[in-house]
Amino acid sequence: MLSEQSVQIIKSTVPVLEVHGVAITKRFYELLFGAHPELLHIFNHANQKQGRQQTALANAVYAAALHIENLAAILPAVKQIAHKHRSLGVKPEHYPIVGTYLLKAIKEVLGDAATEDILNAWAEAYGIIADAFIGVEAEMYDRAHAQAGGWEGFRAFRIGRKVRESDVITSFYLVPEDGGAIAGFEPGQYVSVKIDIPGDSHTHIRQYSLSDSPGKPYYRISVKREDAAQDRPAGKVSTYLQEYAGEGSVIRLSAPAGDFVLNRTDDRPVVLISGGVGLTPMVSMLNALAEKHPHRPVTFIHAAQNGGVHAMKRQVDELAGKQPQLSVYYCYGQPTAADRERQSFHKEGYVDLPWLKSVIAQPDAGYYFCGPLPFMRTVRRALREWGIPESDVHFEFFGPAASLETASAVR
Ligand SMILES: Cc1cc2nc3c(=O)[nH]c(=O)nc-3n(C[C@H](O)[C@H](O)[C@H](O)COP(=O)(O)OP(=O)(O)OC[C@H]3O[C@@H](n4cnc5c(N)ncnc54)[C@H](O)[C@@H]3O)c2cc1C
Ligand code: HEM
Repeated sequence: MLSEQSVQIIKSTVPVLEVHGVAITKRFYELLFGAHPELLHIFNHANQKQGRQQTALANAVYAAALHIENLAAILPAVKQIAHKHRSLGVKPEHYPIVGTYLLKAIKEVLGDAATEDILNAWAEAYGIIADAFIGVEAEMYDRAHAQAGGWEGFRAFRIGRKVRESDVITSFYLVPEDGGAIAGFEPGQYVSVKIDIPGDSHTHIRQYSLSDSPGKPYYRISVKREDAAQDRPAGKVSTYLQEYAGEGSVIRLSAPAGDFVLNRTDDRPVVLISGGVGLTPMVSMLNALAEKHPHRPVTFIHAAQNGGVHAMKRQVDELAGKQPQLSVYYCYGQPTAADRERQSFHKEGYVDLPWLKSVIAQPDAGYYFCGPLPFMRTVRRALREWGIPESDVHFEFFGPAASLETASAVR
């Protein structure tokens, strides 16, 4: 337990630290990687460069500090992070290292304002927060290992099949090298993929949602190629997988993780809303619903730029042809002439509330969405405006968690 005095100090300094949050975590990562360059093998360098990871870490530490007397209140957030930590291989021995450099960063950024009492209180609070994470993660490690087909750490998988799904998305069917069973998963979960790129001094770990339903002898992931643009390099892992990894190549995976999962016990309708490559967890959910809950009404809504980059359309259309309870709607930002000729989309432009209302016949449903950040903000705002209860709304970020509160309309 944190002493009463420390609780008071933490509460009174959270707002100050929040103001300097990103400066502190930015400095923290510089110090951390300077002293422990081996950790660069597990952190995502692109997230570091773009600052999203720093913001996510700062927000999590301060949210935890605010609830330091009752960490149970933020257990769902702890679990979401712990899933990712477990899938990356974050271990108890890493926590004191992170604690040391976080404290150093606080001291450096706050300067004289960081008195000994303040630093001691934060050291104590960090210890309590770290213990909460370590406890939750220990259970997750045990479960990942002990479940049927489960394993510890990263396991070698061979690319059995590589299938082009659109101009930018390719699916990989992954089978274990050891020929053993593979763990089940909940539709919506992801795996972490670890890659050694020849000539690159660090390994790279990325998460990919499983894009087919559970119960198959393979895991399927579907990866969007992140091409280079004027101001940014090509994505490391997506480019490697798409350009260099072929059928027969071996990559390493940790066991499925994540708390963005289809609620299978709820028998109300389901609405799956995706933008771009955010369709991968939705297709897993869709396939699982079709196989196991064929009477549950499903509305599948997908937004893409045009038909060229619209992945898995045939699979989804075929399913809709067979299953009358499944309704499918597509929104294209900039349809091509061929898209218009084929009438392969239902709306041109942006997903917005009037359109969602027009296609979702039964709003009393479970809602799941995923896509680029601006798309997610639009969907979140629309569902809120419509009065959909928060408890019915679930979403996944394809990167460090971020705020969805900024409003904007998007394709
Ligand atoms: C839970 C979860 C599930 C996911 N599921 C999927 C999925 O199903 N399919 C999928 O395709 N992706 C998925 N992702 C995203 C995936 O994990 C990767 O982030 C994505 O493939 C890009 O990785 P990369 O290594 O190719 O790119 P990175 O090398 O990580 O680069 C990412 C972006 O940052 C830019 N960048 C890199 N360095 C710089 C720099 N110095 N300055 C400016 N910009 C820079 C790159 O140009 C690129 O656009 C998921 C992510 C999460 C968290
Ligand atoms: C109490 C301490 C910690 C807190 C509050 C914390 C918080 C977070 C948060 C909020 C994220 C982003 C999750 C998401 O939305 O995707 C994250 C990711 C991550 N954390 Fe932690 N973390 C802690 C300790 C650690 C430790 C000890 C390590 C190991 C060195 C670690 C390594 C990572 C890595 C590698 C990621 C993924 C980052 C990326 O690849 O971009 N964390 N953590």
